[in-house]
Amino acid sequence: MTNKLNIVWASLAVLIASSGCVSRGNDPGWEYAPDMYYSKGYEPYNQADSFSLNPYGMSMREPVAGSIALGKSGHIYPLANSGEGYEASATQIVAPNGIDQIDTRGKYLYNIYCAACHGVEGKNDGKVFQRVSTLKPAWKGYTDDYIKNLEEGKIYHTLTYGKNNMGSHASVLEPTDRWRVVKYVKLLSGAASVSVPTTDSAAVASNNMSN
Ligand code: HEC
Repeated sequence: MTNKLNIVWASLAVLIASSGCVSRGNDPGWEYAPDMYYSKGYEPYNQADSFSLNPYGMSMREPVAGSIALGKSGHIYPLANSGEGYEASATQIVAPNGIDQIDTRGKYLYNIYCAACHGVEGKNDGKVFQRVSTLKPAWKGYTDDYIKNLEEGKIYHTLTYGKNNMGSHASVLEPTDRWRVVKYVKLLSGAASVSVPTTDSAAVASNNMSN
């Protein structure tokens, strides 16, 4: 009896042991190149001595000079950051179609990026100008004739490059948003040619999502 039991146990053990060796097609049962199974996951900006041929020892090469990121061709600004560029912007830089109507996003962005200096209503009474009055421009506020008559292209140029004590806002306002803010400045100035903002808050929310 015990012999028979032993045979049963032994054959069970053989079955269990051999089940691990079932053939799986071309799989030899071990990893030839562990790095290919478990990727090291180099990140583009990682830096390592072993990448000495790449700029800054990064994993990636730098893009070729003049490369444009996908969908960003509209970000190319044709004028130089110079006095001549500023003057030329008056006539050469015009708002694209569809931005002639002001939406609430212009106001939203203005309050974030501009009001700290120029004030919520553009009266040059923001916290920064209050504390450091020497920073203020010569004109008193947006309702000055200077801003009323200032070409939109020049405002766009100023937002792009900055002007004296005002820094560039190109990194925080993509081109379309720059135009929205330009239009909002014109609205605050009371310039007659500007239409009244809509109160479409859904548009603001959805725009936020895409940025
Ligand atoms: C740090 C404070 C500061 C912030 C923030 C700031 N500005 Fe200015 N802004 C200035 C100063 C200072 C000038 C005057 C520059 C000069 O003519 O010397 C100026 C000038 C301007 C002008 C006149 C430009 C021209 O061509 O003469 C406009 C329009 C303007 N700002 C709008 C904006 C808008 C819109 C924003 C937000 C996107 C903004 N500013 C953010 C300080 C600021």
